[in-house]
Amino acid sequence: MPDPSFEHLRSACATPIVPHAPDWPREVSLEALEAILCDYEHLDKTPIGRTKSRPEMECLLHEPPPEDGRDFSHILGEFQSKVVGNSFRPSHPRFWAFIASAPTFASILAEFLAANANLFAGVWKEAAGAAEVELVVLDWFRHFLSLPTGTLGLLTGGGSEATLTALTVARESLSFDGRSRCVLYVSEHRHWSVDRGAKIIGLRPDQIRSLPCDADYRMRVDGLEHAITADLARGLLPWLVLANAGTTNTGSVDPLADIAAVCARHRLWLHVDAAYGWPMVLLEEGKRLFAGVEQADSITLDPHKWFAQPFEAGCLLVRRGELLAKTFTMRPEYMQDVIPREDEINFCDQGIALTRRFRALKIWMSVKLLGVGWYRRLIAHNCALARYAEALVRTAGCFEVTSAAKLSIVCFRYVPRDCAIGDAELDTLQQAIAAELLASGLAFVSTTRLHGQTTLRFCFVNWRTTAADVDEVVAAIASIGDRMTCIV
Ligand SMILES: Cc1ncc(COP(=O)(O)O)c(C=O)c1O
Repeated sequence: MPDPSFEHLRSACATPIVPHAPDWPREVSLEALEAILCDYEHLDKTPIGRTKSRPEMECLLHEPPPEDGRDFSHILGEFQSKVVGNSFRPSHPRFWAFIASAPTFASILAEFLAANANLFAGVWKEAAGAAEVELVVLDWFRHFLSLPTGTLGLLTGGGSEATLTALTVARESLSFDGRSRCVLYVSEHRHWSVDRGAKIIGLRPDQIRSLPCDADYRMRVDGLEHAITADLARGLLPWLVLANAGTTNTGSVDPLADIAAVCARHRLWLHVDAAYGWPMVLLEEGKRLFAGVEQADSITLDPHKWFAQPFEAGCLLVRRGELLAKTFTMRPEYMQDVIPREDEINFCDQGIALTRRFRALKIWMSVKLLGVGWYRRLIAHNCALARYAEALVRTAGCFEVTSAAKLSIVCFRYVPRDCAIGDAELDTLQQAIAAELLASGLAFVSTTRLHGQTTLRFCFVNWRTTAADVDEVVAAIASIGDRMTCIV
């Protein structure tokens, strides 16, 4: 006769805790899909977005968690009006600040499919399908960048994580004494994720050499040689050169082949930060510009920048792929059932995360649905937009180009025609123009500093953007600038 408490326990957990009525997912999915399609189809006709202060947002959204669930339409409405409605839209055709992303619809659908399948992309035995798709995508990227077989990598949350992972792998070959004497060479126009990565792996600031650039914001190879020689003379250990293939500020590409030659001569690790610029290799012109990238020991490349993917999709490729597993593999007893065979890959052995989403699906589906040809057209289109914007500002008479179009980035300053104003006021003016443009809802354009001056910057990565958008925004900037110079 069973123990009564046994029966009691059994009946307490006899049925599943279904979070909704059986037909609820179908009903709300249709509502959600309608909202997604409406947004996707009309994004180009909506303002770019807006922001609110912290107190205003607290007022709108701060609340204790409800004990009982609420109606989906109500929550969807809150998401649209309070959450999306108080954000800027990186997918918008006139979002040219920083480096945005404008996902393909295939990649958006893939995120939904991946969330539902919820495959564990950390170990082969749990999801061989997901692991193989990730290997396929990595192999496509390897091929685009002309890296040899044996190259391996992983998809990451973004470029910062990819670069940190690369630095960790490269450091593994150093002795503990070497780690305290090693030197990292970077360009003055590096992305700051490099400094953060260096900090996380424990480099002191005096182990980082920030090298000067030429007039086109590219690392000077003579400066690199000189710094390495000086460090050797001091008994230090030159270790890693981090070159750029598409700087964040200007899209500049360092002389990769020359830098690779220096690295080979001194036996240094070459890491290329191509987080933004890498899809350029899909064009013949990009292949020429990126010559030398195929000699890199490791490369950061972000599909969530110029490859039309939703955040988060970063990637690291490492030429001697086996070094990843050598650096990261751990074999705890609770994972003893999922140790991979020699020809299988546990992606949790390749990087920092154990539990990983199935990030490869969105890239795989996009490329298979659209073909590489569509990506080639996207890259060419965005480069043409940058060149067109440069030509337009050159003819307008109230601008000065501070960095000619490189990849899909162009930088310039508004300089009033008839009134002389000081440098500090000119700097303030650029930021004021960008702020007013943003407040108007027309476009999001960021500013940066080049050669000590504040400058406006356009970065095109969006498939929706057209020359008419460029016409409209350049005209708006000129008109805001003209109006403001009366009051500067
Ligand atoms: C050149 C470059 N490297 C690295 C990063 C960092 O990438 P993420 O923002 O994906 O971490 C960026 C971001 O804009 C970048 O432009």
